[in-house]
Amino acid sequence: MAAEIIDGKAIAADLRREAREAVEQRLSQGRRRPGLAVVLVGEDGPSQIYVKHKRRDCSEVGFVSEQHDLPANTSEQELLACVDALNSADHIDGVLVQTPLPEHIDPHSVINRIDPAKDVDGFHPENVGRLALGLPGLRSCTPQGIMTMLARTGRELTGLDAVILGRSSIVGRPMSLELLNAGCTITVCHSRTQGLAGKVSQADLVVAAVGREGLVKGDWIKPGAAVIDVGMNRNADGKVVGDVDFQAAAERADWISPVPGGVGPMTRASLLRNTLSAAQAAD
Ligand code: GUN
Repeated sequence: MAAEIIDGKAIAADLRREAREAVEQRLSQGRRRPGLAVVLVGEDGPSQIYVKHKRRDCSEVGFVSEQHDLPANTSEQELLACVDALNSADHIDGVLVQTPLPEHIDPHSVINRIDPAKDVDGFHPENVGRLALGLPGLRSCTPQGIMTMLARTGRELTGLDAVILGRSSIVGRPMSLELLNAGCTITVCHSRTQGLAGKVSQADLVVAAVGREGLVKGDWIKPGAAVIDVGMNRNADGKVVGDVDFQAAAERADWISPVPGGVGPMTRASLLRNTLSAAQAAD
């Protein structure tokens, strides 16, 4: 294998250590612990696991964390009232409403209701707009985590041709803005894109965020490229795998992120970072 592994698990552990130190420093200065509130509506199995991991991270670094479990038949008005209460709570710096939400609730109304200063997911239109304008703000966690991973490679991003696969609001779109802000030339590919292999084969940097096992073939990768795999898929053996044919891609790439142990832990580390930033901004 030619490529060096970008070890998201190890980088995320570094970031948690830094967050813990920042909390200790805040306490020694007489300031309070950062606080994250997570709202879970209904009983979606994967969401319950994600929320458990987010809260475990918070307790590891010394943040206050609260979980608000609401039944699946909660009305949109009741959920908005819960968000309003958390927006007003002085001990809470970050408000995260876990998605997916039940069908009868409009996720845009809920995201719009979160105070942009407490929007630690970075999903509020004000924060997305700030990212689009290259202004400081709370930045979406997965793309932010990927930017941290790329920074750790030491590779200069300015002038690189970057190809992003996927145009979701959570990953593909904000990822394109992050890389544009870093000086890359961006191509965003999606389900209607023609000639996908040809586009990927031109890329110095590939970010795959579609959610389809084996989508990116190893021989599509330009020799020397950096490859970031955001996919989380279960293969026929029940193993978690990404969107990229890892072994074959690693023969050609210079840098590659694994699944698991790549982007996933970095998304959660970025959530801690955003919560800490929100607390610092509130001081
Ligand atoms: N559901 C899956 N990923 C996420 C996330 O990062 N934030 C929220 N709020 N919901 C999610």
